Amino acid sequence: MSAGGDTTRVLDAFASAFGGTPDGVWQAPGRVNLIGEHTDYNEGFALPFAIGLAARVAVRVRADRAVRLVSTHGGGLIELDLDSLSPGTATGWAVYPGGVAWALACDGADVPGFDLALESTVPVGSGLSSSHAIECAVATGLAELTGASFGVHDLVRVTQRAENSFVGAPTGILDQSASLRGAAGHAVFLDCRDQSVELVPFDAAGAGLSVLVVDTTVSHSHAEGGYASRRRACELGAEVLGVEALRDVSSADLAEAQGLLDPLTFRRVRHVVTEDERVLATVETLRAAGPSGIGPLLDASHASMRDDFEISCPELDLAVETTRAAGALGARMTGGGFGGSAIALIPVDAETGVREAVLAGFARAGFRTPDLFTVSPSNGAHRLI
Ligand code: GLA
Repeated sequence: MSAGGDTTRVLDAFASAFGGTPDGVWQAPGRVNLIGEHTDYNEGFALPFAIGLAARVAVRVRADRAVRLVSTHGGGLIELDLDSLSPGTATGWAVYPGGVAWALACDGADVPGFDLALESTVPVGSGLSSSHAIECAVATGLAELTGASFGVHDLVRVTQRAENSFVGAPTGILDQSASLRGAAGHAVFLDCRDQSVELVPFDAAGAGLSVLVVDTTVSHSHAEGGYASRRRACELGAEVLGVEALRDVSSADLAEAQGLLDPLTFRRVRHVVTEDERVLATVETLRAAGPSGIGPLLDASHASMRDDFEISCPELDLAVETTRAAGALGARMTGGGFGGSAIALIPVDAETGVREAVLAGFARAGFRTPDLFTVSPSNGAHRLI
């Protein structure tokens, strides 16, 4: 699967729904998170990269206050009214462009009515940020069309507001930061306290490796309870420990923290604290030795999510176990959890065997056939036309 820069499909969809050509076409990618899960809303560290799968939107400004939306994935024409746009007024995929238009207006942008056609190659519900890919493409396009001087920090805030308040998912800034700030050949080392970013070279191919995604096709939604309850446990942990955020706790503090927290909250806290440290260790290892040294950190991250944060599921665990047994250097679930995808770092010459092992393992377990594909770091959101 590859997104490329081909705009034919989205332009055709635009022309057949609205006639003529759009004012522009913008693209924003999905992401995998190499490591650093559920650290973003704890003001910690994460290391995602933007992938080649992406959402593309063709947009043309209208003279009135209507928003008209079509997708190459079907569902017909959706109409929204900008003036009555508020949380709860849109459903389906319209919550993403609707939410971004609403959030831009909340931020003072003079958003005009618009016609928009969407095409996306990011599989929905795969844990690869299909929703943020749409939001970032729309936000980048609309910000430009409104002439608002929104920088990347503003677009991170706008898309987070859209997601939190309009879509109703209490997520952090990981996904949009990767989608907006990704760069080919690099992972995005993100400090979620001040939103600063360092691009860290991640050349898996150069090291004879590839990153295989195992999309379990177990669908999840972060607007449901599991994500929010993990977030609440982290907030409770920070409050009891008397810190602004769990970012301020280190593994040296954990023995003392254990005496102060109930056992469940302690495990949630331990995941976040150790995960932050694993991100820093991964960045150091990448800089010193390249991708081949990070396998054990990926494995430890998965174990922590499975055992302490309890956000894995049998399909994700099986994906990790079978890829490891078939020769992966390391593997972990990626994204918010409760379904979605795992990633495995594998020697290129072991790829065929790993793929076969995963397919056979899933069939034996009676699980749905997973989708398997490789990803590499790609550029963030940008204008195509
Ligand atoms: C989802 C959220 C992110 C982040 C991850 C977990 O992808 O959108 O903000 O919290 O889960 O790391």
